[in-house]
Amino acid sequence: MSKPFLSIERLTQTYPDGQGGSTTVFENASFGIEKGEFVCILGHSGCGKSTIMNILAGLAEPTSGVVKMDGLEVSGPSLDRGVVFQNYSLLPWLSALKNVTFGVKARHPDWSREKVEAHARDFLAKVGLEGDVVHRKPSQLSGGMRQRVSIARAFANHPKLLLLDEPFGALDALTRGTIQEELLKIWSGTEQTVFMITHDIDEAILLADRILLMTNGPFARVAESVEITIPRPRKRTEIVEHPNYYAIRNHLVQFLGHRSKELAGKQSDDADQRPETVRLEKTGQAEDEPSAPPPLRAVND
Ligand SMILES: Nc1ncnc2c1ncn2[C@@H]1O[C@H](COP(=O)(O)OP(=O)(O)OP(=O)(O)O)[C@@H](O)[C@H]1O
Ligand SMILES: [Mg+2]
Repeated sequence: MSKPFLSIERLTQTYPDGQGGSTTVFENASFGIEKGEFVCILGHSGCGKSTIMNILAGLAEPTSGVVKMDGLEVSGPSLDRGVVFQNYSLLPWLSALKNVTFGVKARHPDWSREKVEAHARDFLAKVGLEGDVVHRKPSQLSGGMRQRVSIARAFANHPKLLLLDEPFGALDALTRGTIQEELLKIWSGTEQTVFMITHDIDEAILLADRILLMTNGPFARVAESVEITIPRPRKRTEIVEHPNYYAIRNHLVQFLGHRSKELAGKQSDDADQRPETVRLEKTGQAEDEPSAPPPLRAVND
């Protein structure tokens, strides 16, 4: 079997517990993500989602285990990995526009100043930030605006891997819907791979090819990988009509409501902790028909 684009191998994270001992957040977590896949991860607060994402970004080192991207070990930040942090993390001394042009310049040192600025403005406009507002510093923007600058900054660099930590958490429902659509447009037109943390089940079903489910910590596990068997392109108002929608939704709600706790806190043996694949299919395929997977990738037309 060929190695996936992103390979997470036996990742373990422990932290000092402040009382002379240590807490294991997760242990021997192993999973893969294919090139071009859109993967969401769901789990209760504190189970270790941001910790995993920071390790994937190369911003934190795990206690043990490795992450490989394109076969190479991740050992520090790179322009190939764009991150939208849970707390936005903009450079406070730069305007919204400069926060975006900063990375674009680094990515494209041969571009003229005008080209860099036009590109940055284009991505800011995609998230609804246009006109004078782009010259404001982060402290002069609302939380939702800061989050949008952070999204524009990550998308504008066309990284191979987009790492998004609750990127829409501070947005009102309307803006959220618009930016989710922008994200799908950007993603479906490229070979980008997305790893996104969210607390919103419906958002995850709308966006993802696959949802990873984490149990509660300590000793959290990525217990399941749920395939979203709803073809693309998907529309928020239409996916609820799909026969698989409620089966998937109920499965996720059940997991987060009960099984994430039941499976929690169990110290593993030394084995790789790989998620179990779950595929829910209610579309009434004939028994003897080969179960070809439905077209899950968006097409760019
Ligand atoms: N630097 C640190 N030192 C000690 N413990 C830490 C550190 N960073 C995170 N933790 C602990 O690790 C656990 C996982 O934290 P993490 O931020 O990854 O959770 P999360 O799943 O992203 O939660 P949320 O959904 O609330 O953002 C938590 O119990 C947290 O207290
Ligand atoms: Mg987090």
